Amino acid sequence: MTNFLIAKEERINQFRENLRVAGDVLEIGTGSGVIADFCYQSGVDMVIAVDINPHAVNHVRQTYPHIISYESDLFSEITQKFDDIIFAAPWSIGKIETPLDYAIYDDGVVERFFQDADAYLKTNGRLWVQYCDAFEDNFKNFPIWVSNGGFEVVDQWSYSTFGRLVGRNVNVILYRIERSAA
Ligand SMILES: C[S@@+](CC[C@H](N)C(=O)[O-])C[C@H]1O[C@@H](n2cnc3c(N)ncnc32)[C@H](O)[C@@H]1O
Repeated sequence: MTNFLIAKEERINQFRENLRVAGDVLEIGTGSGVIADFCYQSGVDMVIAVDINPHAVNHVRQTYPHIISYESDLFSEITQKFDDIIFAAPWSIGKIETPLDYAIYDDGVVERFFQDADAYLKTNGRLWVQYCDAFEDNFKNFPIWVSNGGFEVVDQWSYSTFGRLVGRNVNVILYRIERSAA
């Protein structure tokens, strides 16, 4: 057991298969750093990978020294704009008591992400957000958070998997999101 999230392969494969990033890339909530490294290996100009969990940041620094990684509560330590911003978000309902819990429970972080993201996105920039329909109270709000942030979903990919916390099959969805046309 680590004190940061080791991702399931099928969840990371959803990124490997669908993510199309270029230029300057930010990964919010990098965890093990595997998605940030995938972006780096795909030849982007720069990847910054941040996490609120210091254990995740230490791991990324040691495992992927070519990636710039530091602690940040969402965009709190970010000072530039990006072409692509990625967030494999926590989606469960529960209380955060340990650093690992940040990987599991959405304590309002996804709503805050959409409120703040615009200021860190270049013109024509894209957001890539992975979420899940396991917890209806969170999931029903997702489109509202997107729209309130001034964004719209332009593409999405989904797969079904067993959700351990809810004891039934759930859908994990990767969204490509852009600023609303209106
Ligand atoms: C579902 S995990 C994803 C980890 C990794 N990117 C992956 O796909 O395996 C969510 C990550 O977001 C981080 N996180 C949660 N709240 C955050 C916040 N306010 N600011 C930055 N990172 C946060 C967690 O610590 C965790 O590493």
